[in-house]
Amino acid sequence: MTILVTGGAGYIGSHALIELASAGFDFVVLDNLCNASSEALQRVEAITNKCVPFVLGDIRDAGLLKQLFADYAINAVVHFAGLKAVTESVAEPLRYYDNNVHGSQVLLQAMVEAGVFNLVFSSSATVYGDPVEMPVSEACSVGRPTNPYGRSKLMVEDILRDLVVADRRWRIAILRYFNPVGAHESATIGEDPNGIPSNLLPFITQVAVGKLPQLSVFGSDYPTNDGTGVRDYIHVVDLAQGHVAALCYLQENAGVHTWNLGTGQGYSVLDVVHAFELVSGAKIPYRLAPRRAGDIAVCYANPDKAFVELGWSAQLGLERMMHDAWRWQKNNPNGYSNK
Ligand code: NAD
Ligand code: UFG
Repeated sequence: MTILVTGGAGYIGSHALIELASAGFDFVVLDNLCNASSEALQRVEAITNKCVPFVLGDIRDAGLLKQLFADYAINAVVHFAGLKAVTESVAEPLRYYDNNVHGSQVLLQAMVEAGVFNLVFSSSATVYGDPVEMPVSEACSVGRPTNPYGRSKLMVEDILRDLVVADRRWRIAILRYFNPVGAHESATIGEDPNGIPSNLLPFITQVAVGKLPQLSVFGSDYPTNDGTGVRDYIHVVDLAQGHVAALCYLQENAGVHTWNLGTGQGYSVLDVVHAFELVSGAKIPYRLAPRRAGDIAVCYANPDKAFVELGWSAQLGLERMMHDAWRWQKNNPNGYSNK
């Protein structure tokens, strides 16, 4: 079975390639490298000892997609390609809707024309907005994401639900990721953000290697144990394995299916800082700062549905997430431009 992996050179996509390869799937990667390096794919080749076919291009390029579906006998698409920076999405909403929503539409149209109806889509816990119950399950209502990035994910989810009503050939998995962190155990691939990281873990690891002076903890007056925000951090390798489980499920089941991919365990910002310090031996200087606009107090998954239906659950705990994130950063202080 051959999978088209859009955004396969990115953080989650590159980890997914390894899990797909070890599960016996063939694949071809489509990525425009707007937020990734082809070096990541070379490292995936070294880890898997397998050639990674790569097409440099954009999901919005209908002609290229047509050619790609003609050139490769693709059975399914795992669609990671997208822009993901929340603050940037507030500043440049049109760019986000164009890339994430229009890009997905062009891809879906090309799939229809090629007769490919199997899709795994990267969604996000952000579609729950400020969830009304915790832990948040798939049965919780979606809506009111707090930024254009989140709304772009919800719009694509809505398009996918509409598609399945219109055409019963579709088999679609919507995966709502919680907070992916960590890196492959080889420490040769990992998260390589452009500029100053906006996410917690890359910020911490860059403080640890001395690239940034101190962490700002956004909010210390939330109604949580220590006043800092609580999230469900999930090891990127566990997350990647969830995609293999979803692809296998789609082989047996038509329709649209939605799963939370999280651990079910919430940790505060200070829990994460302390766990990182323990594992790395590094001291993370921090200051308590005002809340970040758009942040919610607490968000962690009820992951039961994925366990029951996919037989998937996260295996790697917080300590391992910190360990792998630290090894990646230590060995690659400048990410993929290290060589
Ligand atoms: P990433 O930026 O590392 O990977 C996305 C990849 O898509 C990059 O390689 C980028 O070059 C590529 N890309 C972007 N637009 C493209 C386009 N128009 N055509 C072709 N390639 C394009 O991000 P990631 O963390 O690996 O995220 C993967 C997916 O998961 C994204 O859709 C993201 O929104 C979603 N997601 C991520 C998180 C997270 O915290 N990392 C959480 C929830 C959902
Ligand atoms: N935080 C800090 N300091 C920082 C960065 C983050 O205190 O420098 C705090 C945040 O306030 C929050 C927690 O750390 O309480 C996690 O923040 P992240 O930015 O790492 O992650 P978010 O939960 O805000 O958002 C992430 C992704 C989104 C995705 C969402 C749900 O960035 O794309 O998880 O999946 F939608």
